[in-house]
This record gives sequence, structure tokens and C-alpha cells, in this order.
Amino acid sequence: MSKIDQRVFTPGKIGPIEIKNRTIRASAYEGMADGHTPTKKLIDYHTSVARGGVGMTSVAYAAVSQSGLSFHSQLWMREEIIPQLRELTDSIHQGGAKACVQLGHCGNMSHRRYCGCRPVGASGGFNLYSPTFVHGLNKDEILQIVKDYGNAVRIAKKGGFDAVEIHAGHGYLISQFLSPYTNHRKDEFGGSLENRMKFMDMVMKEVMEAAGDDIAVLVKTNTRDGFKGGLEVDDCITVAKRLQELGAHCLVLSGGFVSRAPMYVMKGKMPMRTLWGYMPWKSLWWLKIGIAIAGKLMVKSEPFQEAFFYDDAIKFRKALDMPLAFVGGLNSVESINKVMDAGFDFIQMARPLVHDPEFVNKLKEGKITKSGCQHANYCVARIWNYDMQCHEHCQVEKFQKKELERNIRKG
Ligand SMILES: Cc1cc2nc3c(=O)[nH]c(=O)nc-3n(C[C@H](O)[C@H](O)[C@H](O)COP(=O)(O)O)c2cc1C
Repeated sequence: MSKIDQRVFTPGKIGPIEIKNRTIRASAYEGMADGHTPTKKLIDYHTSVARGGVGMTSVAYAAVSQSGLSFHSQLWMREEIIPQLRELTDSIHQGGAKACVQLGHCGNMSHRRYCGCRPVGASGGFNLYSPTFVHGLNKDEILQIVKDYGNAVRIAKKGGFDAVEIHAGHGYLISQFLSPYTNHRKDEFGGSLENRMKFMDMVMKEVMEAAGDDIAVLVKTNTRDGFKGGLEVDDCITVAKRLQELGAHCLVLSGGFVSRAPMYVMKGKMPMRTLWGYMPWKSLWWLKIGIAIAGKLMVKSEPFQEAFFYDDAIKFRKALDMPLAFVGGLNSVESINKVMDAGFDFIQMARPLVHDPEFVNKLKEGKITKSGCQHANYCVARIWNYDMQCHEHCQVEKFQKKELERNIRKG
């Protein structure tokens, strides 16, 4: 039986903070922030992950402003929720882990119902996946959103977080500026990659200033967008080098583009019947019908393998001198040891910790060598309407049962 590399359980530094080991719960949208505010459920979930042995847990997908919201149970960073953020971070700290919050703006993936305006993006047009007409941001609006990032970092600090993770991947606003697929601007923010990086540069300068010496800044960035016409590895290495120059303390190397290559982010099959079955009629009838008819074309499966970004991520390891976190398919001792051997400083896990918040402790105690997660992606398929759950731990409706069993059997 393979033994876990003990380096995983040594402390590691990210900018001004030290975390007790190398494991981080990856940002994975919980759907537990009703009214865009932390709830007891969100606090209990992250506390259980903290008690389960991770060095740091990341609260997902908090919008830096209302215009960046896409779900009704998504966090929105604002002054009035500081007491609830404090409760959340105090509880995580008591559980023995550091607390991180992922900050982002959904851009053209925002939902009109929650974002209070026509969704905004690097360029205008129509986003089939949201589905919505999009307003291309003007210069003043860009400057306001840049300020919103700084403000969100200050709120995170007041809320007791040890770290923020800026979401610069997966086709959300920063990524929409970076990618030629979504950025068709003719001004200084469009055209060359240098110009397309300008929004990210401005956000990062604001974020690093707001962070000061007190809080760590991680950035989740793509190793590639995952489709033809998006950013490829070389472009993404240029972006990562820029993030290093801008002073980011750690990069989380991911990939994919939710509006174009969603399964590239996490791999595996999307259980389509579950996905459209859970979508709310009222706000998403169009998408619900679209996915019921053409879901397999819109959300293409991607083969799952352990440590699935390894071949690309290793190129970033060679090109950069800064701390790097590996994310994606770290499901077993073998793949964790492989990325530790390759020189990655931290490991992030999402689904293994959705399946079992105790995963890290169990690995450490040698009770298991592999996660029981089978990548059925049920936890993803229900995010439109319910909180994040593994199908093994909640009631699965009859219509999904057969689909889940079939997907798991086929792998
Ligand atoms: C239910 C679910 C929700 C997710 N939500 C987010 C998110 O809000 N932000 C993000 O950066 N990644 C999100 N992800 C992607 C994960 O952070 C991670 O990059 C991906 O699942 C691969 O890691 P894993 O194989 O350990 O699950 C989500 C993944 C899952 C399964």
C-alpha cells in the first residue's frame, strides 16, 4: 500500500501567512449563502472541512460587487456582512485551519435576476450559456470594478480572512478580458495579449495594495482555456509570469471556460438529466429547455484522469519561481505524491472534500489511500437550485438514480 509523502503535512508559507500543511480546500461553490450572506450551513460546512485536517479552506466564488452575481446563494462582499464573515472565519480558525475567500466577478455569466443590471463583460453580445445579452464595459465602469476588487479585499481582512484567492480563470470577468474568445475590444483593453492583460494588471495592483502585509493573495489562473480559439498554454504562461511580477503570493493552476468548455475545469461527465432537472423554470427556462434538448453538445464530457492538469502544470512549474498550488483530480496518495515530487508547493482538492470533509485526516492517519469520489459530478449538476452535496450523502431523486449509476459504471 502506498504511503503518503510526509512533506504534505509540513507547514508552508504563502506571502505573509503560514499554513500548517500543504492541503487547501479548493474554491467550490457551496450554494449556502442565502441572501448573499454566510449562513449557519456555510459555517458548519467549512468548519467540518477545517476539522478534517486541511491547512486552509477556501470559501468560493464571492462577488466583489452586485453586478458580478450569478446565483441567489452566492456570497457578495459588502460592509454589512462583516459580522457574519467574522463568525465564519472564527469558526474555521477554531477548527484548526486558515480561511481564504475566493473573489471574483462573473461578468457575462452574471444573472440579471441577482446582479441588478444587464450583465456586463469585456465585450457586448449574447452569452448563450447564461443566457443573456451582455453590455460591454466602458472605461469608467472598468475603473469602478477594479476599485470593487480592492474594497472586497479590505472587507475580507475585516471579516478575519487570512487569504484571498482572485479568480482569474474559468471564463469569469478577468478571464473574459484575457481570452480572445470573449474580448473583441478595439481600445487599450483589447487586441494583443499585452492589452488583454491590462484589466488583470489593474485589478492586481489594487488587490496587492489593499492586501498590504496582512493577507495572502492567491490567484486561480488557467493553464489553458480548453477549446480552440481560447488561450493556449504559452499565452497562459505569459499571464502567469505577469502575475508573478505583480506580486501574487501563489498561483492555483486550473483550466477551462464555463461558457465554452465547462467540463474542462473538473473533467468527467455531467449528469444531464440531473442538471436540467434541477434548473429553476422561472429564471432559467430557456437554458433548461436548451440543455434538455442539446445538453450533450453544450456540456461536452471530458475524460477524467488523476492529476489531470499535470502535463500542462509542469510547464508552469519550470517557468516560474513562485509558490504554486496544483488542483484537479488529486484523488489518491499516488497522484498527491506525484505532484509533490514535481515541486508543487500546495495541493488543492474540491470533490474529494465534498465527498468527505475528513479526507485529509484519513490520509494522514493511513486509514485510506484514495477518495471515494467517483466523479459523477452530481455535486456540480445541482448547483443551480440546491446546496453542494455528494450524491452519496443526500437523497437522490428517482430520475437521477439510473443516470448516476450508468455514469459511474461507464467511468
Ligand atoms: C461543486 C463544484 C463547484 C465548483 N465551484 C467552483 C468555484 O466556485 N470556483 C472555482 O474556482 N472553481 C470551482 N470548482 C472547481 C474546483 O475548484 C476544482 O478546480 C475542480 O473541481 C477540480 O478539482 P477536484 O478534482 O479536486 O474536484 C467547482 C467544482 C465543483 C465540484
